[in-house]
Amino acid sequence: MTADRAILSRQLEGQVALITGAASGIGRGIAEVLHSRGASLVIVDIDGDAARQAAAEIAGNGGAAMGLSGDVTDPSTLATAVDTALERFGEIDICIANAGVIGGPGFSDRRDYSDADWDATQAVNLRGVVNTNDAVRPHMAERGSGRIINIASHGGRAPRGDGSELGSIQVPYGVSKAGVIQWTMHLALQIAKHGITVNAVCPGTLWTPMWQRIAVMRSQQQARYLGMDSKEIFDRQIQGSVPLGRPQTPTDIGNAVAFLASDDARIITGQALNVNGGATMN
Ligand SMILES: NC(=O)c1ccc[n+]([C@@H]2O[C@H](COP(=O)([O-])OP(=O)(O)OC[C@H]3O[C@@H](n4cnc5c(N)ncnc54)[C@H](O)[C@@H]3O)[C@@H](O)[C@H]2O)c1
Repeated sequence: MTADRAILSRQLEGQVALITGAASGIGRGIAEVLHSRGASLVIVDIDGDAARQAAAEIAGNGGAAMGLSGDVTDPSTLATAVDTALERFGEIDICIANAGVIGGPGFSDRRDYSDADWDATQAVNLRGVVNTNDAVRPHMAERGSGRIINIASHGGRAPRGDGSELGSIQVPYGVSKAGVIQWTMHLALQIAKHGITVNAVCPGTLWTPMWQRIAVMRSQQQARYLGMDSKEIFDRQIQGSVPLGRPQTPTDIGNAVAFLASDDARIITGQALNVNGGATMN
């Protein structure tokens, strides 16, 4: 390892990162990358047991990671998580609002969106991000520094597909992610004076429990996918739609988040970065 590479690999040493929805999928990948670069972790998830397990697996028992139960739709649970994190670590330098859902209960059994899909995506994906950011910003403003990174989606930049490919059931999700990008820009404007940067990362397509729900929905609801298993449907989605030729991984998203959390990105705020292999260029 060169000296420069060694410095990069510990570029978040001494920093504390709070990450929501980090018990699985992309959030877990972000947590692993930030920990590998030296950050201490506060993993918050609606599944508290899974959050604690993830923290133990990433950092080892006694390592610099804690797992907490928290529901991003309930600001009181986020306030408790922030207080607990500050008691343990004394500061929060980085906030990653990652928790998200593709739709409401029964999503995979529907062809079209329902009130449940609008309610769940607005509550978790949009208000949940606002709640998470609001929970940390007074602390960051008081310290005069901080990095906030919100996980949106390239589907929040513009509608994808031809109207038949994705189905209208994913419309509430896309609208909620567009809201995350708009909120990110507004918040960046509001709190730049406190030395806090706010950016969004827009992942493309990853094989996580969320995408598995999309694949099950397609296998049941869309004729062209009938008889295919979930992974085949995912692979079909990737074929021809990603110029770099592969799906993204949670580590890919973690690498982008680590850059935006690092000192290298200190003059970047109010931006939304696609991490999607070139699937969309906007
Ligand atoms: N998987 C993809 O292809 C993809 C693409 C673009 C964007 N994203 C976004 O990335 C983020 C993570 O997605 P993922 O694919 O890892 O999903 P996932 O379902 O694997 O993980 C989501 C995590 O969030 C947690 N969670 C759900 N509701 C919560 C709540 N109310 N409060 C706290 N935690 C909650 C879950 O328990 C889970 O651990 C989401 O915001 C998603 O919209 C995913």
